[in-house]
Amino acid sequence: MKLLFLTILISFSALSQDAHLWQAQTPITHPRENIYEVSQTQFQELIESGKTHALFYPVASSKLAIPYWPLKNFFESSPDSRVRKILNQLAKTVSPFKSMDDLYSYLGLHRFPSETQWQTPNSIPELNSEEMSLPMGATLMKTPHGDTLTFSCAACHVGDLFGVKVIGLTNRFPRANEFFTEGQRLAPYISSYVFKESLETTEGERLLLVQAKENLKYVGAKKPTVLGLDTSLAQVALSLSKRDQDEYGSRTKLSHRFPRKNVLSKKIADSKPAVWWTLKYKNRWLSDGSIISGNPVYTNLLWNEIGRGADLRELEKWMTENDQTIKELTAAVFAAKAPRYEKFFGVEKIDIEKAQRGEKHFNSSCMRCHGTYVKGWSLPEADSLSKEELIQNIKVVYHTQTPVRNVGTDPGRYEGMNAFAADLNRLKISKTLGTVVVPQKGYVPPPLDGIWARWPYFHNNSVANLCELLTPANQRAKTYWAGPANNRETDFDQDCVGYPIGAKTPAKWKKNKDFFYDTAREGMSNSGHDEKIFIKDGKEIFSNVQKKEIIEFLKTL
Ligand code: HEC
Ligand code: HEC
Repeated sequence: MKLLFLTILISFSALSQDAHLWQAQTPITHPRENIYEVSQTQFQELIESGKTHALFYPVASSKLAIPYWPLKNFFESSPDSRVRKILNQLAKTVSPFKSMDDLYSYLGLHRFPSETQWQTPNSIPELNSEEMSLPMGATLMKTPHGDTLTFSCAACHVGDLFGVKVIGLTNRFPRANEFFTEGQRLAPYISSYVFKESLETTEGERLLLVQAKENLKYVGAKKPTVLGLDTSLAQVALSLSKRDQDEYGSRTKLSHRFPRKNVLSKKIADSKPAVWWTLKYKNRWLSDGSIISGNPVYTNLLWNEIGRGADLRELEKWMTENDQTIKELTAAVFAAKAPRYEKFFGVEKIDIEKAQRGEKHFNSSCMRCHGTYVKGWSLPEADSLSKEELIQNIKVVYHTQTPVRNVGTDPGRYEGMNAFAADLNRLKISKTLGTVVVPQKGYVPPPLDGIWARWPYFHNNSVANLCELLTPANQRAKTYWAGPANNRETDFDQDCVGYPIGAKTPAKWKKNKDFFYDTAREGMSNSGHDEKIFIKDGKEIFSNVQKKEIIEFLKTL
């Protein structure tokens, strides 16, 4: 008892010690890569553990997890089993799956690399072969009732860049939200007894299913408009609307049977998962900068759990007792680095003089929003540097106060915040964590390091590549096809940086309608980011040659 009291005391003090880092308007005078300012040895240790938490979901109080072995048995079972027959009629998506691997690839999860990949800036922590047997983003949790499967941060925040797995890069094709909607649709039809009888399930596993089904009642899931975007925002809002409005968002029969109306059940506010390596420059979070205080990693855990129907009293207890885990995860997220173009394409693919001309245009038209990137080539000792050194960012200077600007891009995502800011701010756990949400009008101009690897562009993926981004909005492609980054030559336009579009689109991509992006759909508009940026008095200020120079510069960031 005494010990427990002591640990709680220590973790509370850790919380309050760190509070100054997360206050609204804490000036950012340098990139907060080593957010807790610990020694190098400690820093490396924190990052290593933190990356493990990013890969394996750490919240042990989480109750929305699928019993693993029955699920595996199910996918490997004969098409004649009873549960399978019920599901086959209901679920066209999952019914053809014949193995867990089919499920994982549908979910867009990536396999761990079989060897060390030097191109990634954020190496995979040391893991044993059992830990690496499931794909990145899937987490096997051991519970007293049996093993369960759940998803971690990596499901949305690990990207595959030409076979290299990059922690902190957006997963281009996540399907977590869609999986929730499927699960929610199916759950009421799966009787835990039929489940137990036909899938060699233990009584413990049956209870786990009962528990998962119970939690699902408090989840409001929504399928993203297009593959590549995510609806976690709507999921949090709709899940909150199934709870009472007290400070713990209590879950009652009445609250889930009669959810409050929320515009996000219809309104589209989809956005892409963010990259992690720009956090170190900012003091407000999310694409619209609407989280104005509080550790964003705490906030993400909270949102992940609300989206899983969690009991917030239990979560609060878990968070206080596991402050160190959160600290490690936070350290890793803030320490994430951007992948470098030359490591993937070779340093000879960068034309330094062209990039230097691009730098001038950038500094006159882009810097005031996106920050300054001091290059190796500007150093006094530039003459003695290698080409690799010349193209590095020596220093990134972003705003001391993270700005939000409305440049006319699609407003759906930022408007969506109005639909649940009050519900979030009311929660006691938000107050404890210092999380404050204030709806905005516009988006944060993202810091641009590693921008080459972040295609497609804008919060809603509406612009396929950087040539398109520098084209007046009314002349940008109205539709494009997305596809995985497997082949450097065919799946990536090296001149335009991003998806090849039009005649260059790989034929394979067009066979799958999930990969089709249509800017005419609600929330998907590719408007904005042209007037007063590279259009002045109705005229474009850059020639095509100059635009290519800007792109050459952006490749080096
Ligand atoms: C289901 C997909 C999904 C999962 C799982 C997920 N995230 Fe995210 N994350 C997103 C999306 C989408 C955004 C951007 C939303 C926006 O701002 O429009 C985001 C944004 C963030 C941001 C803010 C970035 C910024 O620049 O402000 C952080 C930090 C973050 N996530 C960390 C995490 C952590 C840590 C976890 C695991 C505990 C996690 N995320 C799990 C989808 C996900
Ligand atoms: C007035 C401020 C402002 C100026 C000036 C500006 N931008 Fe932006 N930029 C933004 C905002 C805001 C966004 C985010 C828009 C969104 O996601 O909807 C953005 C987004 C971007 C993105 C996409 C980022 C991503 O992660 O998808 C790129 C690339 C970009 N800008 C490049 C440029 C370049 C190049 C210039 C100069 C020619 C420039 N910007 C000038 C505000 C600005």
